[in-house]
Amino acid sequence: MSYKIAVLPGDGIGPEVMHEGIEVLKQVAKVYGFNVELAEGIVGGASIDAHGKPLTDSVLQLAKESDAVMLGAMGGPQWDGLDYSIRPERALLRLRQELGLFANLRPVKLFSALASASTLKRDVVEGTDLLVVRELTGGIYFGQPKGVTQLPDGTERGVNTEVYTTPEIERIARVAFQAALKRRKKVTSVDKANVLEVTELWRKVVTRTHKDEGYAGIELEHMLVDNCAMQLIRNPKQFDVLVTTNMFGDILSDEAAMLTGSIGMLPSASLGGKVGMYEPVHGSAPDIAGQDKANPLATILSVAMMSRHSLDQGVAADRIEKAVEAVLNDGYRTADILEPGAKLVGCRQMGQLVRDQIARPQG
Ligand code: IPM
Ligand code: MG
Repeated sequence: MSYKIAVLPGDGIGPEVMHEGIEVLKQVAKVYGFNVELAEGIVGGASIDAHGKPLTDSVLQLAKESDAVMLGAMGGPQWDGLDYSIRPERALLRLRQELGLFANLRPVKLFSALASASTLKRDVVEGTDLLVVRELTGGIYFGQPKGVTQLPDGTERGVNTEVYTTPEIERIARVAFQAALKRRKKVTSVDKANVLEVTELWRKVVTRTHKDEGYAGIELEHMLVDNCAMQLIRNPKQFDVLVTTNMFGDILSDEAAMLTGSIGMLPSASLGGKVGMYEPVHGSAPDIAGQDKANPLATILSVAMMSRHSLDQGVAADRIEKAVEAVLNDGYRTADILEPGAKLVGCRQMGQLVRDQIARPQG
């Protein structure tokens, strides 16, 4: 088998972590006998500098013609003053929308070696293994009307609109139920149904999908988003699959990331269209860019998710995840997850250690 992968490293630490991810990909391809054809594209701030916009049509085309897209990170202070329509982040939103990636999967799994790297107590976080299923192409991120207008009295008015339709809610609910079937069979749907009509609809449609589409074997509960934010740090082990709107998912997944010790550990998959897109949940971290300090594990774990979901190479995915676990068990840490007694390594060495593990004979 041969797969076409669009590689979009982006800005800040994006290129560094992507380099390690791609080297891991090449290595598992060799071990498991498949081919990867890599085509690199410029996105985000780098594209603004080169072409005046964060995503060119040719890069979008490249993404559409691939089997999967690997994305690094986008943005940086030098582009913050730009108009919203050409900010680096727009590239990400447009890719999600144009590729029809309505389902964002963010697994939050604590490697036990990292239980004391979390800011929370070990007994609270140990054993955490949940999946955030975030709706990704609707809600307040895309709803109309939006924008800032001038009022006659010289003040301004800013608007964004939270919108969901029945089919949009049904399809993301299905993704959550399907994922739960392969896990511990519990779905928590997160909304603000006590205040927002749009999420009252969300709750109604999720409930109906659960009932009408034969998911009786799955336990469904509903939780208000403020309570969920609290429960995530009070007792994260109560959760299996969390399904929620675009914005609540954005916020809760960053919060959940800290259960794993660092946002530098969290991979993600965006699915729903023909082409899947895979990226670390963290941002471009311009403060440490180019210093070989970044944690490449979220990108490496995103390569594992890509192998599983887009390349149908589940065994390769397992091997990558096991290799990451072994490196952590051996005590190696990047700065973001460093703890007393551990061995501090840079981005490149962390990538190399994972590859060394993959190269070892399996016993
Ligand atoms: C994420 C990020 C993006 C989002 C930003 C960079 C647009 O925070 O993927 O979680 O809000 O979706
Ligand atoms: Mg976010």
